[in-house]
Amino acid sequence: MSRKRTAILISGRGSNMRSLVSAAKAEDFPAEIALVLSNVGDAAGLEFASGEGIATKVVEHKSFAGREPFERAMQAVLESHGIELVCLAGFMRLLSPWFVEHWRGRMLNVHPALLPSYRGLHTHERALADGVKIHGATVHFVVPEMDAGPIIAQAAVAVRGDDTPETLAARVLEQEHRIYPRALALAASGAAIVQGERVAIAGEPAVGAALVSPAI
Ligand code: GAR
Repeated sequence: MSRKRTAILISGRGSNMRSLVSAAKAEDFPAEIALVLSNVGDAAGLEFASGEGIATKVVEHKSFAGREPFERAMQAVLESHGIELVCLAGFMRLLSPWFVEHWRGRMLNVHPALLPSYRGLHTHERALADGVKIHGATVHFVVPEMDAGPIIAQAAVAVRGDDTPETLAARVLEQEHRIYPRALALAASGAAIVQGERVAIAGEPAVGAALVSPAI
């Protein structure tokens, strides 16, 4: 089996990156983490990645005159590492249509909400303010529109009456760590097939890739 050479793009602590690195240690995992790239020089996740023997690279957006030169620099790094799949994991820069189109169907993102609800930032605060009883996490293929694109996996979390944004975020993050490796495996193995706006999961026609938190 040839494992897909995968880059993880981070901006900060990198807990989702750690969950992907850990899953990819299994011999039969269809992706290998070949690169961790950060747009922030002191992102905490970089130290962990290099400690794991993974190539790391910093491409600081601040050092470039605009989005396009920044993205061209990232693209050059990805190409020089022979990257086939990209996972955004807490990567907090909006990407241009040029970059997204180049990686269409080969770039994944994790978002801390049940898309298409709560795109953007402060998802947990907004979910609590709305009084929703079910919240969660989504892994999807990236398209030019922010926090949209064919959904590969989702996990639901029950909202508690005494939740704060922090307690809710912590339970959602646990689910992100569960579904992101699963979604990457589905994408890397070719089992996640994009059909228009949706993802069909080969071999799982009835169940799909939905995972529901045991809390419900
Ligand atoms: C995660 O909760 C991820 O879903 C979120 O940032 C956090 C990064 O944590 N991403 C977004 O909000 C992107 N729209 P991590 O660095 O520990 O993985």
